[in-house]
Amino acid sequence: MGGQKRIGILTSGGDCAGLNAVIRAVVHRAISAYDWEVVGICKATQGLMQRPLEVVMLDIPQVDSLLMVGGTVLGTTNKGDPFAFPTSDGTVCDRSAEIVEGYHELGLDAMIGIGGDGSMAILRRLAQQGGWNLVGIPKTIDNDLGITERSIGFDTAVNIATEALDRLHFTATSHSRVMILEVMGRDAGHIAMSAGIAGGADVILIPEIPYSIERICEKIRQRQVRGQNFCLIVVAESVKTETGEPVTKLECLGQKRYGGIGQYLADRISAGSNAETRVTVLGHVQRGGVPSPLDRLIAAAFGVAAVDLIAEGKFDHIVTWQNRQVVSVPILEAISQYGTVDPDGTLAKTARGLGICLGS
Ligand code: F6P
Repeated sequence: MGGQKRIGILTSGGDCAGLNAVIRAVVHRAISAYDWEVVGICKATQGLMQRPLEVVMLDIPQVDSLLMVGGTVLGTTNKGDPFAFPTSDGTVCDRSAEIVEGYHELGLDAMIGIGGDGSMAILRRLAQQGGWNLVGIPKTIDNDLGITERSIGFDTAVNIATEALDRLHFTATSHSRVMILEVMGRDAGHIAMSAGIAGGADVILIPEIPYSIERICEKIRQRQVRGQNFCLIVVAESVKTETGEPVTKLECLGQKRYGGIGQYLADRISAGSNAETRVTVLGHVQRGGVPSPLDRLIAAAFGVAAVDLIAEGKFDHIVTWQNRQVVSVPILEAISQYGTVDPDGTLAKTARGLGICLGS
């Protein structure tokens, strides 16, 4: 793909730290190496649905100070699937044609989509419908795209959850309390497992490993016998009740969100162990703020590699992190591998090796 080109870039799905760092990397590479134009699409695909189109031309001076800025300057959404777009009367309609057309109205030669598995599936469908040249970059604090060892945003989320455990540690010891930290992660326990080990948790509960309240209470009692009158528990939001029900709250547009497993456990643990128990739900704090150096590094590597893929004409691919290298794989392959925590993997073995209770 030689000559002057015009590429689009959008961020889709939940925000996370490192999105602006990747936008910056894409703009730098596209302009300084290839002299292309870069069009930022606002609010994920919704910027292409609006008329006039909601877009912004991106230049190097504009993105230069974005490296450490949280969120995404382009805006994003994790609602509003264009193939079943919610309308004011509560029904849904297919608005994909307007989005597809928006790409062509802008005269784009390619599109870089930054998103998780759900966003990638939607973008790929749009690309196929409209003949777009799509390249993907993975981001999600959940780190649940199985094909890549790391997605942008995960490391920062783990840092934040670890810091929360460090802070809770002091108050747990001071008051001899059981402190439960509920973390995000959707259907995977990556944040809980990594932050739990790094933050010195005594109990780590993840959806991939079944647990019993009795086992947790036993752990608390064992610690008390040893004079350790506090206990730090980290639980992933998608851990189910003991009887297997997910703990969710209903959000707008009928979309369910996890939330509440921490309080569910607290009620049962305080009844079963007599320990004074408190709950902290970390929530969206895990998504915001300054990206960690590792997230900046991965964002930079992914941004450069994605632009280079366009230069090579290698579309319908997503960049991934494998064995310390950026490797591109077909998007379809990437979105068909949901990555959960291996209950017998290194991190689970490490946790067990440290005497951390995984609930079973
Ligand atoms: O996928 C990222 C994530 O933060 C999940 O960990 C969480 O379950 C969900 O998004 C929360 O979504 P919302 O921002 O819509 O509340």
